[in-house]
Amino acid sequence: KTPDNHVPRDPRLIRLTGIHPFNVEPPLNALFDQGFLTSPELFYVRNHGGVPEVDDATIQDWEFSVEGMVKQPFNITLRDLLADFEQITVPITLVCAGNRRKEQNQVRKSKGFSWGAAGLSTALWTGVPMLELLQRARPLRGAKYVCMEGADKLPNGYYGTSVKLNWALDRNRGIMIAHKMNGEMLTPDHGKPLRCVVPGQIGGRSVKWLKRLIVTAAPSDNWYHIYDNRVLPTMVSPEQSANEPQWWTDERYAIYDLSTNSAIAYPAHDEKASIVNLPETYRARGYAYGGGGRRVTRVEVTLDKGTTWALADIRYHEDDYRNDATEDEQLYGGKIDMEWRETSFCWCMWEIQLKIEDLALADDVMVRAMDESMNVQPRDMYWSVLGMMNNPWYRITITRTG
Ligand code: MTE
Repeated sequence: KTPDNHVPRDPRLIRLTGIHPFNVEPPLNALFDQGFLTSPELFYVRNHGGVPEVDDATIQDWEFSVEGMVKQPFNITLRDLLADFEQITVPITLVCAGNRRKEQNQVRKSKGFSWGAAGLSTALWTGVPMLELLQRARPLRGAKYVCMEGADKLPNGYYGTSVKLNWALDRNRGIMIAHKMNGEMLTPDHGKPLRCVVPGQIGGRSVKWLKRLIVTAAPSDNWYHIYDNRVLPTMVSPEQSANEPQWWTDERYAIYDLSTNSAIAYPAHDEKASIVNLPETYRARGYAYGGGGRRVTRVEVTLDKGTTWALADIRYHEDDYRNDATEDEQLYGGKIDMEWRETSFCWCMWEIQLKIEDLALADDVMVRAMDESMNVQPRDMYWSVLGMMNNPWYRITITRTG
């Protein structure tokens, strides 16, 4: 029995930590097979503590505040939020900063638990742009950050973090307060009834169970903002980071934009194939994403450890929502807000036909992606104490048997 007994959960999800709190990823192939959008049941979950219990009978009374360095602080209920503000719907991929940490932990143990390559999921989020709320509150001169706080009470206080006020005020960045995913009310694990969604940035900034937006002059001083979601310099060891707390307070090490990343779904790590009776080619497939709204512009695959690379085909499903969105708007409720946007907020799918004769001779298949700013995944791993933002070339090893 855990404090989360009220929360329904799918048995296919893979537990990454003990019984509580709930931290899970879907099997990579199941996630990939679902296609562009992830169903809420399979969506990865990262909870620092218990899931706040919300009574459906009074859900419309859920209230949060917009406060701090603003001319007109206010409290607003879910009911009034939906009545007073226009809602938009945007496809956004959330990615945990710990995605692919398992590979890092295999090299040197970090302080974090081992995510495979499925610490990411995609939904159509419906809600209100955060900037509309900030405009109503009217930030004061000198205000630079928006702190967000959730309702989950944890050992070190409520979960909270911050983003730059400029980002929240920039419609292009798509930062929103969402109440629906894929047209349905948020599920308890994903923030029911209200959460922030910050596209292009690590999942840790997308605060669930939102209770407070606080406009400030300085970044959040919340424990979870300071001691989580950072890439400290690589020489800082777990012991050092505990004994020399100054490492944690340097805001330059806080992670915002995701790094360019990709992974291979097929072939899977444990996939078996007999080369007798196989067709001439194997269709390798996987995903890639960029950070900060930057689009992945190429995905390359190597069978000879990076000496030569072949270009994969890329499919950008999010672009489907830019064109002729009316049907989806009816389905999901809320104006699909993608038409004019050049940014990329979602994962893309890649595939490539590999010759079986080449595969049969290779030691491994590796992939790397590059984004529109030519940020390319590195060959080597950058180890850091929290084990975050791991994005070297993704590898599937080939072993020959029989
Ligand atoms: N918000 C609250 N209130 N509490 C949390 O523990 N975890 C964060 C973020 N928002 C968290 C939170 C982290 S680290 C991530 S990666 C995302 O939520 C995960 O969102 P998901 O569980 O909906 O996938």
